[in-house]
Amino acid sequence: MSERKPWWEGAVIYELIPRSYSDGNADGIGDLHGLRHRLPYLRWLGVEAIWLTPIYPSPLQDGGYDITDFKNIHPELGDLSAFHRLLTAAHDCNIKVIVDLVLNHTSDLHPWFQRAKWASKGTPERDFYVWSDDPNRFAEAPVLFCKFESSNWEWDEVAQQYYFHRFHKHQPDLNYENPLVQKEMLQVVEFWLKKGVDGFRLDAVPFLFEEEGSRCEGLPKTHDFLKKVRTRIDSINSNALLLAEAIQPAHEAAPYLAEDELHGAFNFALTAHLFAAIATGTSQRLIDCLKKTKEILPGCRWALPLRNHDELWLGDGHLVPEDIVNSIRSGLHQGHGHWLNWGINRRLAPLLNGDPRANRLLHALIYSLPGMPCIYYGDELGMGDWPGLRDRDANRTPMAWTAARNGGFSAAPDPLLTLPPITAPGYDYRVINVEVQKQLPGSILNWHKRMLTCRKLLPALRHGDFELFDSDHPGVIVFARCFKSMKVLVAANLSAAGASFRLDLSKWDGYRTREVLWGCDFPRASKDWFVYLPSYGFSWWLIGEVSDSLQTKVDTI
Ligand code: NOJ
Repeated sequence: MSERKPWWEGAVIYELIPRSYSDGNADGIGDLHGLRHRLPYLRWLGVEAIWLTPIYPSPLQDGGYDITDFKNIHPELGDLSAFHRLLTAAHDCNIKVIVDLVLNHTSDLHPWFQRAKWASKGTPERDFYVWSDDPNRFAEAPVLFCKFESSNWEWDEVAQQYYFHRFHKHQPDLNYENPLVQKEMLQVVEFWLKKGVDGFRLDAVPFLFEEEGSRCEGLPKTHDFLKKVRTRIDSINSNALLLAEAIQPAHEAAPYLAEDELHGAFNFALTAHLFAAIATGTSQRLIDCLKKTKEILPGCRWALPLRNHDELWLGDGHLVPEDIVNSIRSGLHQGHGHWLNWGINRRLAPLLNGDPRANRLLHALIYSLPGMPCIYYGDELGMGDWPGLRDRDANRTPMAWTAARNGGFSAAPDPLLTLPPITAPGYDYRVINVEVQKQLPGSILNWHKRMLTCRKLLPALRHGDFELFDSDHPGVIVFARCFKSMKVLVAANLSAAGASFRLDLSKWDGYRTREVLWGCDFPRASKDWFVYLPSYGFSWWLIGEVSDSLQTKVDTI
């Protein structure tokens, strides 16, 4: 009997901010109704799952990660029945829906926090959050949003105590030592699973528990609670995905992926190395990172983002050397680096100085490596950003659909828009938008569509094992993905110069080789197999005989 793979293994995940995606009721704010009407686009593109950033009631001081009601929908986005309609329509399009689950904290306007501050000390109500008379407790826990906050403690006049917050001061941390908190949050998980969601992106998982003398990250009690979340979801829908956000090197994020804990985690270290590789035009550090990643956890359980709604993390000085970080920053237009708390606050295209070859190459790599490739909405177009907007809003502007007013995002008058659409030179929505790019055969959008269509035909890229090959070129990375009898060879040139190099393919000596994306036969595999890749070029080759039907499907993409 063939082993059934989980739906999420190798699935293409598309992150979108519902407020910025599509406005269905012309009030200037994207909503669930608007998003539902965009599902055919997402299906056309080849997306398999959408991840919605928080959709819950919130004062929106932190993009909705400051929640006031975990079991409802923000009224500007719709209501629970609009969510139900979205979910049904997505499933009809064969698209899974993942929602953000913010376990660590609430908004300070959440009724639990309001109740806590008025409750007497020592009561279970007060103990929903972490309080102290001494703001020096947990002194070794770093302040994460250091641009905005100078301490993890905030004085509350009503409670006459300090409360703990790892993020903004308006986001008090829940107290997981309190069994009632655990009970409530497990009920939240159950609530959304019963509504039919296909998984959760677990926000800020390392920070659930605190312990004196530690950085308060990834403590054993945190893992114990996450295992309870896993048990709870397995009892309701064992196909649901639990995907961890832990912004750490892979060896520190890996413990969340114990068999009885979470299914997947973002590999932010790999993201950092992808940017470093393209900034330096060399591949060795990326290759080392991939070797380590494979040792830590073979298989396809990492989610692979390039950019997301946050800053680009480059490893706090421990991962990517400072001179490379500086070269990524200084390469940016408008000079001033755009550093926020711990990373660069720009979208993908401007980070790559608008070079579509580099955009394609980085996406080609995440489409080829083991794991779940994550596309951040708009990056499939090479959309730009608006540096200078508040906090991380630069990267969260409206999706560009057409050349019409507001990029077709909303029919509302301009001042009502949630954020301004992009009109920056080179990125103007009148050019960089879905409708225009669909009509241009050579556009980035049509390239993504082609890649994802081709990838679907090559299960080795989704489930295959991963083997690195040596090449004699410092700017190149070569690897194979093999699954059952299918072998796909991948080569990418991270440098701005063309690359000609030799590969030893003696293990497949005499096998047929066919470049699969554009349909071109190469010489049979041999010990001295020569390849040329143009600047930022890459290729996928099918190795060995392939069935006629697969060949025909691939050739007719
Ligand atoms: C991680 C989210 O990605 C980020 O946007 C948010 O500000 C923090 N968690 C706090 O919830």
